[in-house]
This record gives sequence, C-alpha cells and structure tokens, in this order.
Amino acid sequence: MTITVFFAAAAAWDDYAAPLRAALADAGLTADLVQEADPAAVDYIVYAPSARLQDFTPYTRCKAVLSLWAGVERIVGNATLTQPLCRMVDPALTEGMVEWVTGHTLRHHLGMDRHIVNPNHDWVPKPPPLARERPVAMLGMGELGTACARALTALKFPVTGWSRKPKSVDGIPCLHGEAGLEAALGNAQIVVTLLPRTPETENLLDARRLAWLRPGTFILNPGRGALIDDAALLSALDRGHIGWATLDVFRTEPLPADHPFWAHPRVTVTPHIAATTRPASAARTIAANIARAEAGQPLLHLVDRTLGY
Ligand SMILES: NC(=O)c1ccc[n+]([C@@H]2O[C@H](COP(=O)([O-])OP(=O)(O)OC[C@H]3O[C@@H](n4cnc5c(N)ncnc54)[C@H](OP(=O)(O)O)[C@@H]3O)[C@@H](O)[C@H]2O)c1
Repeated sequence: MTITVFFAAAAAWDDYAAPLRAALADAGLTADLVQEADPAAVDYIVYAPSARLQDFTPYTRCKAVLSLWAGVERIVGNATLTQPLCRMVDPALTEGMVEWVTGHTLRHHLGMDRHIVNPNHDWVPKPPPLARERPVAMLGMGELGTACARALTALKFPVTGWSRKPKSVDGIPCLHGEAGLEAALGNAQIVVTLLPRTPETENLLDARRLAWLRPGTFILNPGRGALIDDAALLSALDRGHIGWATLDVFRTEPLPADHPFWAHPRVTVTPHIAATTRPASAARTIAANIARAEAGQPLLHLVDRTLGY
C-alpha cells in the first residue's frame, strides 16, 4: 500500500526530498513524498516551525506529525493538533550538541581566550586546573543532556545531572527538584542548560537561582533562550558573579542587533547552531519511525502534551 507523506517544512524541501525518498524506500515503505496534498489523504506530516501549516483539523487520517526539530515548544500547544507528535531524536543531532558543549566547556575550562587573543604577548604561565577539578552541572538529562554529560565525564569532569524526575545514570550523580537544583548549581563551575522551553522551565535561571552559583561560574545555554532571565544574567555578568555566558539560543532569533548580549565583553553569541538537524541522518530517523507505525509498533519520541516536551 502506498502511504502519503506530506513534507510541510517547505523551506527545507530541497535538502530533504532526496534523502527522505531514499530513506523511506530503504525502510521498505512505498511512499509518495509530497509538498502539496489533499489533507484527507495524508498519512504522515513532516513538520518544522517554519511551516505555514497551523490548522491540523483537515488531516483526519494522519497517523503522526514528525518534527524536524528536537524542541517542540512552537507546536506543542496547537489546539488543532490531535495527532501524535514526535520530536527529533537523531544521532547526528546529538553528535553536534556533544561537540558544541564539549568544545565550549573546554574553551572556558582551559582559558583558551587568554592565549588566542594576547596582543601584548604576555607570558603568564598559569596552568588551568584539571577537568577532574572543575565540576559541571548539566540541567536537563534527556537525549542531549545525557550524551553531553557522558562526553564530559569521559574527559573526567565531575558532572552532576538535574532533571524533572529522579534519574539513574551510570557514573553520573543525578538530582531533581528545587533542592537538587540548588545543590547542583552551588557546586558547579560550569553550568550547561539543555532543557526544553515549557511553562515550568521559563526563567528557570532567574536572579534568585543565579545567586546560588559560585562567583565566576561559566554558563553555556544551548537549550532555549527563555530558560534564563536575560536581565538577571546581564546583571550577574556585570557584577562578575558569572564569569562568562556562551549562548546559542535567544528569546528572539535572530538576536536583535541592539541586544546587549552582542556587545557584552563576557558573552559569546553563537547563532543557534549548536545542533542542527542533518538531512541524511534525520531522514533515516523519520523513515524508521514511520516504518514502526506502519508495522503496528509504538512511535518513538512521542511528545507528552501535558508536560510540553
Ligand atoms: N541549540 C540547538 O541547536 C538545539 C538543538 C536541539 C535541541 N535543543 C534544545 O535542547 C532541548 C533538550 O533536548 P533533548 O532532546 O535532550 O530533550 P529531552 O530528551 O526531552 O530531555 C529534556 C530534559 O529536560 C528535563 N526537564 C524538562 N522539564 C523539566 C523541569 N521542569 N525541571 C527539570 N528538568 C526538566 C527532562 O527531565 P526528565 O528526564 O525528568 O523528563 C529531560 O531530562 C530541546 O528541548 C531544545 O530546546 C537545542
């Protein structure tokens, strides 16, 4: 039987059409991959936040909406979406995030900037501590946070994880709840935020909780801009309470030209590139999930609408 897969993420069509067609065929599916379709004939929708599609009501036969993005905050509250929603969990996306987090952690840990930009040719032989002496708090221990925590642990950083539910991960102490957050932040010299944007995580790092950090702590935020209160972060940076903030995600993207993050001497802005969905790999992930559904198996990476992630 031929299934109809509606690719609603129009802007990404050129990148995805060939790999997705190939992946659907490799997964043993006979599929029509289309950019336009009679909604009542669509079996699956591939989605991205840029898609024009906002009303899912006419897609009466659709068995799942498959997001190209890991973060689903822009679709999860759509009241017309009654079909199962799957977020992107993909090896290449995870690899990208592990590289971004590891790279920026090592930059701050080793104090690389001091030597990369040294206009006066200062010779100050001040060796950094070892990774084992630099505690890291990983806020969010899902697909991405856990992979990053494992990579940093392999480099001997003492990582403490923090998540909504209690969690057990080999070799990584995991905390939860408000008391767990205070303990994780109070012990860290580097904090990485890999949480989804939900009503509960909005402004998670506000002035009160930023005050729990040790002076000089580095913050890396590749999660979502709304996790941190911008004004509280800037104030903590100005006071030297936070040593540096490396930020990949923002409340408004692109980050407006007049936003103080651009000009701040202890903020690094990266333009939401920490972990991009890679078409070849993501196409296989989507095709595999559709093949599961067609074989009567449960879909993977279903979003819990009540939790928002
Ligand atoms: N910058 C980029 O390029 C980029 C790329 C991809 C993703 N992202 C961001 O990264 C986020 C994480 O992705 P993921 O795949 O790792 O998601 P995930 O697997 O769903 O993991 C989310 C983690 O956050 C925790 N969490 C959620 N709400 C919480 C709360 N209220 N309090 C404490 N912990 C909470 C979850 O706790 P439990 O384990 O207890 O459920 C889980 O550990 C995405 O939502 C997206 O915003 C950014």
